[in-house]
Amino acid sequence: MKIALLFSSKRGMARALAPFLFEDRVEEGEEPPPDLLAECDSDETITAVQQALQKFHQVIMIESDEQAYLRLMEEKPDLVFNIAERLFGPNRESHIPTICEMLNIPYTGSDPLTLAICLDKSRAKEILSYHRIPNPDFRVIENPDDIPARLKYPLIVKPLYEGSSKGIKDNSVVNNRRELKAKIVEIKKLYDQPAIVEKFLTGREFTVGVLGNYPDLEILPIVEIDHSQLPAGARPIYSYEAKWVWDTPDRPLEIFCCPADLSEELKNAIEKVIRDTCRLLRIRDWARIDVRLDERGVPNILEINPLPGILPNPEENSCLPKAARAAGYSYDQLINRVVCEACRRYGLSVEPYREYSRPAAVMPGLGGTDGR
Ligand SMILES: Nc1ncnc2c1ncn2[C@@H]1O[C@H](COP(=O)(O)OP(=O)(O)OP(=O)(O)O)[C@@H](O)[C@H]1O
Ligand SMILES: [Mg+2]
Repeated sequence: MKIALLFSSKRGMARALAPFLFEDRVEEGEEPPPDLLAECDSDETITAVQQALQKFHQVIMIESDEQAYLRLMEEKPDLVFNIAERLFGPNRESHIPTICEMLNIPYTGSDPLTLAICLDKSRAKEILSYHRIPNPDFRVIENPDDIPARLKYPLIVKPLYEGSSKGIKDNSVVNNRRELKAKIVEIKKLYDQPAIVEKFLTGREFTVGVLGNYPDLEILPIVEIDHSQLPAGARPIYSYEAKWVWDTPDRPLEIFCCPADLSEELKNAIEKVIRDTCRLLRIRDWARIDVRLDERGVPNILEINPLPGILPNPEENSCLPKAARAAGYSYDQLINRVVCEACRRYGLSVEPYREYSRPAAVMPGLGGTDGR
């Protein structure tokens, strides 16, 4: 098969957006936020996905910049492997799938509607709430003058449509109106978007990788985020600092437990809420979903990542590859499994790589140690 890998490299996105950054931000005397490119793909990730796909396919590399449409039109691949998050706006993850739909090219992962709904955390939560899927109470606030008089603290304040813990710092948990106001102002200034203000849940936290398409979902071993391993005095959250500053390949933060130590009852409750979420939000092929227990021990959905992070180096603690490894998948098998799931949906042939895309435990000899 001819597969086009569509990615958003840090270099490519910086180049595409340089005029915007310089004209808009620097003219106002402002620096762009230091985590601006946190969601873009590193060269290491792009190469790892390329090599995984090359095991079975001819692979064309396409940066998700303005030329992407033309390149796709010229190349006419059989399938797009989409990891392109792009950079600005609540619809940025939908750009490439939308182009694919215009050009009638099959692509991996969720469709533009699901990607946009999940990126805007409030829209995803509205749908979940309508279907009575537990998730923390919330409101969206753009202007600090709109802060309601009566609120129950502590609250957590996040940018409305970011990921990779951008804008979620240790001080994002607020205890009073003054702290909340400062955070809303900061999010508006740095990220140019409203804040989502949520009830702060203090229970155990998990992140759950999913492969497949409802009802044929494979829920990967559940990863627990053990807040007790954070530096002393840190808030019990998986913050930007925890993800990118305190956790480095030479000094990894021992914050993950996979598979999580769970009673049968809790495991079933988490898996049920994950299955329901995938069905209601029409998740396709793969995703990583964050869950936290409320004060009654009920699993709440924190957020849904239909374009999950896939750093290949196990020491970088990327949770979907970590969960897949625990299930016996090598990195290459994980990537080719996603191709299989997309092919199945489109009625494309999945031989010969279907066999390859099973866990090492099922396919002895194919190994689960890739990239480690
Ligand atoms: N309502 C909440 N109650 C308690 N903790 C929360 C809540 N919302 C977020 N958190 C904490 O903040 C972290 C980051 O929040 P969230 O997952 O929404 O951000 P993100 O940037 O979209 O993450 P990702 O890197 O998974 O894309 C969570 O992993 C969790 O530790
Ligand atoms: Mg998250």
